[in-house]
Amino acid sequence: MSLLNIDKISAGYGEIQVLLDISLQVKEGEVVSIIGANGAGKSTLLKTISGLIVPSAGSIQFAGETISGMSPDEIVEQALIHIPEGRRLFSLMTVYENLEMGAYSKRAEPNFEKNLQAVHQLFPRLQERGKQLAGTLSGGEQQMVAIGRGMMAEPRILMLDEPSLGLAPVLKKDIFAAIKKITDEHGTTIVLVEQDVVNSLAISDRAYVMEQGQVVLEGTSAELMGDPHIKKAFLGL
Ligand SMILES: Nc1ncnc2c1ncn2[C@@H]1O[C@H](COP(=O)(O)OP(=O)(O)O)[C@@H](O)[C@H]1O
Ligand SMILES: [Mg+2]
Repeated sequence: MSLLNIDKISAGYGEIQVLLDISLQVKEGEVVSIIGANGAGKSTLLKTISGLIVPSAGSIQFAGETISGMSPDEIVEQALIHIPEGRRLFSLMTVYENLEMGAYSKRAEPNFEKNLQAVHQLFPRLQERGKQLAGTLSGGEQQMVAIGRGMMAEPRILMLDEPSLGLAPVLKKDIFAAIKKITDEHGTTIVLVEQDVVNSLAISDRAYVMEQGQVVLEGTSAELMGDPHIKKAFLGL
């Protein structure tokens, strides 16, 4: 059975329809990538899963329970955690305070110390820089804080929106390695939205390809790596 089951959802912004009849399943422990060009609807899909947008049709189940229609706070309490595009840190707060902000859920609060240790183990840099204002960190370090803040909520599913965007190649590698480590060491299920198709497929079990608000292709990472459409559209081959 799927941990996350998205069943024929349509969603958008007011009159503007963006997602059309999207179905997608994620099993417990899987890493699933969602790839697609700018404007394909990837961020809209994550916002719909996390309750920021209410779908106009279809339904979403998480661990067997219908979550479409729940508020974003209620969905966070289900341990479904969304790390939005662009990091969105509190730049005038310290690294430590930003991590604290991730732990506000009733579910995660009692495990604060344990989760903080796990974040520091994953990103030792964040322990060293605990007192530094988040806004003064490098782009790669800010992304670590954004991921660390998500980890503080003890996710069962962690959804990351373009975590490698704007980072130099060597830092991208670190971020993808950290995501792989999260799932390997904590068993966290991952939904990864990316435009870096090569690196994201390398750490994914399966992927969905979106175009103009629809899923146009799905398969295992190996299948998609060999797909002529993927090669042409995303790998420049
Ligand atoms: N707040 C918004 N209001 C209206 N339209 C939006 C809004 N955010 C995104 N869109 C539109 O929805 C479409 C999909 O955007 P988005 O989900 O951000 O794509 P992606 O994340 O794949 O780049 C685009 O056409 C975009 O212009
Ligand atoms: Mg986006």
